[in-house]
Amino acid sequence: MGYQILLICVLAFIPTILGRDTIILGHDTTMGTIVIDGTKTIAETDENFVCLTLDIWPHDECRWSKLCVWDGHASMLNLDLTLPILNKAVQAFKSVRIRVGGTLQDKLIYNVGTGFKGTCHPFQATVGSLFDFSAGCLYMERWDDLNNFFNNTGAIVTFGLNALLGKHNTKGIQWEGKWNYSNAEALIQYTVEKNYRINSWEFGNELAGRLSIGASITAAQYAEDLLKLREIIDRLYNNSQQKPLIVAPGAFFDEAWYDEFVRKTGPKVVDVLTHHIYNMGAGNDPKLIYRFVNSTYLSQVSNTFEQLENVIQKNAPWAAAWVGEAGGAYQGGSPHLSDTFINSFWYLDQLGMASLYNTKVYCRQTLIGGFYGVLKSSTLLPTPDYYGALLFHRLMGPGVLKINNKVSSDLRSYAHCSRGRSGVTLLLINLSNTTNFLITVQNDMNMSLRKSNTRTNGSHSKYRQKRTASREEYHLTPKDGLLRSSTVLLNGNPLETTKEGDIPNLVPVYRQSNSYIHIASWSIAFVVIPDFVTPACK
Ligand SMILES: *[C@@H]1O[C@H](CO)[C@@H](O)[C@H](O)[C@H]1NC(C)=O
Ligand SMILES: *[C@@H]1O[C@H](CO)[C@@H](O)[C@H](O)[C@H]1NC(C)=O
Ligand SMILES: *[C@@H]1O[C@H](CO)[C@@H](O)[C@H](O)[C@H]1NC(C)=O
Ligand SMILES: *[C@@H]1O[C@H](CO)[C@@H](O)[C@H](O)[C@H]1NC(C)=O
Ligand SMILES: *[C@@H]1O[C@H](CO)[C@@H](O)[C@H](O)[C@H]1NC(C)=O
Ligand SMILES: *[C@@H]1O[C@H](CO)[C@@H](O)[C@H](O)[C@H]1NC(C)=O
Ligand SMILES: *[C@@H]1O[C@H](CO)[C@@H](O)[C@H](O)[C@H]1NC(C)=O
Ligand SMILES: *[C@@H]1O[C@H](CO)[C@@H](O)[C@H](O)[C@H]1NC(C)=O
Repeated sequence: MGYQILLICVLAFIPTILGRDTIILGHDTTMGTIVIDGTKTIAETDENFVCLTLDIWPHDECRWSKLCVWDGHASMLNLDLTLPILNKAVQAFKSVRIRVGGTLQDKLIYNVGTGFKGTCHPFQATVGSLFDFSAGCLYMERWDDLNNFFNNTGAIVTFGLNALLGKHNTKGIQWEGKWNYSNAEALIQYTVEKNYRINSWEFGNELAGRLSIGASITAAQYAEDLLKLREIIDRLYNNSQQKPLIVAPGAFFDEAWYDEFVRKTGPKVVDVLTHHIYNMGAGNDPKLIYRFVNSTYLSQVSNTFEQLENVIQKNAPWAAAWVGEAGGAYQGGSPHLSDTFINSFWYLDQLGMASLYNTKVYCRQTLIGGFYGVLKSSTLLPTPDYYGALLFHRLMGPGVLKINNKVSSDLRSYAHCSRGRSGVTLLLINLSNTTNFLITVQNDMNMSLRKSNTRTNGSHSKYRQKRTASREEYHLTPKDGLLRSSTVLLNGNPLETTKEGDIPNLVPVYRQSNSYIHIASWSIAFVVIPDFVTPACK
């Protein structure tokens, strides 16, 4: 079959490009072929792979903490759940996952149950206490409001439970002692009685392994506590049709710790192993920006996915892998990066990469809050990543296909069976600012979609396209070519919400399926090919 890379001068025989009929002269163009193995899927994601997070912070975080990125009303405790734009942004997905949790989850008391009801208070700065905050309070009125919001928006909810309650700090960051489960049990009981649907209960946040944040629990103690949670869930949901999943440990991956943990909990206790990813660096690192367009850098984290997949295959075949929290840059994200187009190079690449390693769900820090919100905290306006997430959710199905792409390391490519329709959808990311790519797609089964080498007739292609159009393309580029633009263009048109907060329609351009796919420099494209019929995507 052979792929060929031809460096050519871009001239008349280039097909229509992004709705224009010419492309800028002087740029190099690389032509090449991507081969998709259509015989079988190599991994499966969950039907609902895209997940967004809500964190837990007091509204006056800046008064207290050095971090100071959560001021305002951007956390699960204080977000205005009635805002139309928020509701519309979540509803647009129809079924997006929301994970509620974060640093202060292990300091949150639920105002329910004997010994707890009426005793808890909002977070206060408390120097010397873990994370320099007192324990905080989740009032049941707020829990009701949150569940109404989840129900109204179709969200699929993962809630992170406090795993530190009852434990005490022994030395360093080590915490010991049995989990006091009675408050969590009371919250779950309340939730069951109210008939609130929680998809999954997660246990603890970043308390595991070498990269524990603030507090650390041994795998042995964690396993013992988790067995208790299993018993509580099995008992309280005994009469329910749908039993929620148990998710743990929500930590940075540490192979030895995860291994020991699954061996000690034993079969079918933990349903999902979550891990967190912040692979781009600290939010204020001046070198950060170069990493987003560095293919080698972006690929490094694939080791982590691979190791977790190995742990599951070897020692926990009953468990699924999820990314429980991933924000790119840590420390609240990076202003003018995390909320701009350039972040999509990291984020959409991550969605593709994680899928390849059988990650079932990928939770993006955050839906709102910090600099990494897909909705901006101040205005709730969607960032470029919001639209990227929405396109991924709508277009990419669970079946993941193997791709052979030797075109260029700057062209990152992923292929899934299309969501809810026939054919395949590609995600193509062009990290290069100097090379355009012209791509043909082939099926490994020698069913070339480019049946002939007919060169499209520039000026006439527009109407020919009408008759024979069969490929949908969604090209994302930054406004004015500025990578740090907070406005993304879809096929050349800015994506903007209406005054009422309505999310715009995401309208593709149609191309003949035998024409080249053009991926401009510094751009991202979803390409839907309905007539790419292949046994893997039945
Ligand atoms: C858990 O904490 C509550 C409230 O402090 C207390 O009443 C209860 O006795 C504790 N349970 C255990 C098993 O220590
Ligand atoms: C969720 O919403 C539906 C209507 O959309 C309603 O029938 C149902 O009672 C709600 N469930 C809960 C637990 O609020
Ligand atoms: C669930 O209910 C069944 C039948 O009512 C009972 O036999 C079983 O022990 C219960 N299991 C748990 C974990 O409570
Ligand atoms: C890209 O990242 C790799 C891995 O961190 C690094 O070795 C390399 O120097 C980077 N390349 C550029 C051009 O910065
Ligand atoms: C293209 O990117 C490289 C490396 O990131 C940079 O050095 C160069 O200035 C960029 N060229 C243009 C035209 O932006
Ligand atoms: C990526 O962009 C560069 C720079 O404009 C371009 O030369 C190259 O052909 C593009 N790649 C693809 C796949 O279109
Ligand atoms: C596809 O064609 C190439 C040569 O044209 C051949 O080597 C290869 O075996 C074929 N693959 C299949 C799956 O038929
Ligand atoms: C291109 O357009 C010309 C003029 O309209 C037409 O004569 C010619 O047949 C077309 N070529 C192809 C390959 O469609």
